[in-house]
Amino acid sequence: MPYDDLLRLIVDPTRLRILAILAQEPLTVAEVQEVLDLAQSSASGHLAKLKAAGFIRDLAEGSARRYRLREDMEPDARRVWDCVRDLYHDDPRLRVDAEHLARLRLEAGTSWVDRVAGSLHRTYAPGRSWDSIAHALLPLVRLGVCADIGAGDGAMIEMLAPQATTLICVDPSEAMVSAGRQRIADLGLSHIRYLACAAEDLSLTEPCDTVLFLQSLQYIADPARALARAISALAPGGHLVILTLARHDHDDCRRYGHLHHGFSPEDLRSWMPGIQTPQIIPLLPETTGPRYQPLLAWGRKG
Ligand SMILES: C[S@@+](CC[C@H](N)C(=O)[O-])C[C@H]1O[C@@H](n2cnc3c(N)ncnc32)[C@H](O)[C@@H]1O
Repeated sequence: MPYDDLLRLIVDPTRLRILAILAQEPLTVAEVQEVLDLAQSSASGHLAKLKAAGFIRDLAEGSARRYRLREDMEPDARRVWDCVRDLYHDDPRLRVDAEHLARLRLEAGTSWVDRVAGSLHRTYAPGRSWDSIAHALLPLVRLGVCADIGAGDGAMIEMLAPQATTLICVDPSEAMVSAGRQRIADLGLSHIRYLACAAEDLSLTEPCDTVLFLQSLQYIADPARALARAISALAPGGHLVILTLARHDHDDCRRYGHLHHGFSPEDLRSWMPGIQTPQIIPLLPETTGPRYQPLLAWGRKG
């Protein structure tokens, strides 16, 4: 679509508000209607136009459809959106919408996991240096058959997939699995699949060379059982890698859906039977409050 058309489409006040609110969080038509106080036909009409112009996409979620900003906008659409977003970022109408959304979320108690499905990477995107260092080192890593437990919406797929012969993404959240499957389809990769199941119920037919828990253990109701299932899925000599949080006492972790206040090294060690000399390494804490501290645990199955 030519720039003129993209600009005309996007500066419509309602469509601008819709894009701004979707940039914060993926929403269903009903939620867009409620947050922006629109009639259903108006919300649907504007969403259809934004979708046709390539600014947003939608994904089935149960009987509803959830709309989100496209990560893979065409370069012209991306330029137009970046420019308009900068121009309007202080607009009071957009601030009112954002406050309205936050209020509705508090009232509804919607789970953090379902809300961020499809935009998880934005909640903890690394700085450019760390991102590029990770990309530089990854080619040295061979994951073989790899199960990524609590894979979420597959924010890590682009990094993990080239290093794996098969990547099995495991997650029980319908919203995450649906967003992850869409990501796989967009990337056109055939050696990745999603398994919609809880880690505690994991049962794989093919033995894994690597099992990963990347910031997922604190979300899992029964971590001991989940780790036992993961270790039984590993081939002898296979690697288990857990990145989680060290034990803490910040109750605000509940807001992000954590079921556990992190873990002690002793917890993790006791849940890794069959793993030879597990390494448990506290990593640097966050520099700002509440200063969560990542905890890395890994080892090989004997
Ligand atoms: C913070 S996300 C981590 C996503 C991903 N590992 C990443 O680094 O981008 C935590 C994920 O754990 C998933 N989860 C919650 N309970 C689980 C369970 N019982 N088994 C496996 N995953 C679970 C959630 O649905 C969510 O997608």
